[in-house]
Formats: sequence, C-alpha cells, structure tokens
Amino acid sequence: MSKAGRLVVLVSGSGTNLQALLDASADPSYGARVVAVGADRDGIEGLARAAKVDVPTFVEKVGDHATRADWDAALAAKIASYEPDLVVSAGFMKILGAPTLDAFPVLNTHPALLPSFPGAHGVRDALAHGVKVTGCTVMLADAGIDTGPIVAQEAVPVLPEDDEAVLHERIKTVERRLLVDIVGRMAREGWTVSGRTVRIGNQSGGEST
Ligand code: GRF
Repeated sequence: MSKAGRLVVLVSGSGTNLQALLDASADPSYGARVVAVGADRDGIEGLARAAKVDVPTFVEKVGDHATRADWDAALAAKIASYEPDLVVSAGFMKILGAPTLDAFPVLNTHPALLPSFPGAHGVRDALAHGVKVTGCTVMLADAGIDTGPIVAQEAVPVLPEDDEAVLHERIKTVERRLLVDIVGRMAREGWTVSGRTVRIGNQSGGEST
C-alpha cells in the first residue's frame, strides 16, 4: 500500500487547487505537505502562492529544451530532487511523459465527470453538449489524456444561465474540497490500485468492532 506524505504540486495557472492543498497541509494532522511546486511557465499566480508560504518552486519550460523528451527528463529530475511520495497535477496543462509517470504516482484533477469531456476544455465541451449535470474527477494519471484510474468524482448541476466561467467556478469549489479530501485520505490511509480500481485505505477487513 502506498502513502503520500510529501507532495510535489504541478501548476500552470491560478493555482487555487494548490492553495487549498497548502491551506490543508498547514495542519500537521492532515498527513501530507507540499514540499515543492513546479510549473511549465513563469509569472503565474500558482508560483506566487507557493513563494508566499516559502515553499520552493521550479519552472521547466518545454521551449527551453531541444526536444519534448528532454523536457520530460528534466521535469522528472526536478520533481525527483524533492523526493515526493505523490505528485499532484493541479491545473498543469501538459501531458506528463514516462520519466515522471514511471517514477511517481501522479494524481490529476479534471473539471468534468470522466470519461465524458476529457481534455483541455472539459467545462466548455460539457456546456456545448447540453448536459444538465457535470462535475469533477480526481484520477491517477497515465499516458493518456484524462484516461487514468478514477479515484473520486462529484457531481455539479449545470444551471440554465451558466457560461463557461460561471460553471467552472462552481465546479472548482467542489473540486478543491474533493482534491484536499482525497489527498489527505491517501496520505493517512494509503491506497492500492488493481486494474482500474483504486481503493483508499485497507478496505479488505471490513469494520472493526
Ligand atoms: C481546474 O479546474 C483543473 O481541473 C483544470 O484547471 C483548473 C485549475 O484551476 N485543469 P486552479 O489553477 O487550481 O485554480
């Protein structure tokens, strides 16, 4: 069973999911703490959030490397230098390569109910399809786009007046709470993966009396 005390969080944007993890890990009983924050671009709010609480940051830009494979290797080496138990991709807008995926468990969060609406525009695509319920998914990352084993999901209603921004904000409120809950439980209780089934904690023995 794996556990997840040391977190490296990867971000590309505003970093509100990162902030939720930073806030939760201020309490030692949470069981996990953010030891570093990585990004694929400079000047984003996510990096500023980490710096504000003295969490180390690093940036690896694809454009600074001769090939994507070089970037994959450099990113994995940076992540490894912080010895994480779990990597959390929280709004990181890059597909991770084998050097990272083979070395660490990676948790990802997505603003739709997978397997519906994978990819970079999950909220827009759900709205365009006219669904009445969407939501968020926390899953383990694999080499595909939002295809990994699902850890948790929560539904969010789509309201008639929603546009993409309004709906995404409503989803993110739920997404932050779900991500914090799942990361904390994985850290405290451990988890196992069997095929596509992820189990948190030891669920084989039933309830103790
Ligand atoms: C989240 O909804 C995440 O699922 C998606 O982008 C958003 C990132 O938000 N990929 P933030 O940067 O954590 O505020």
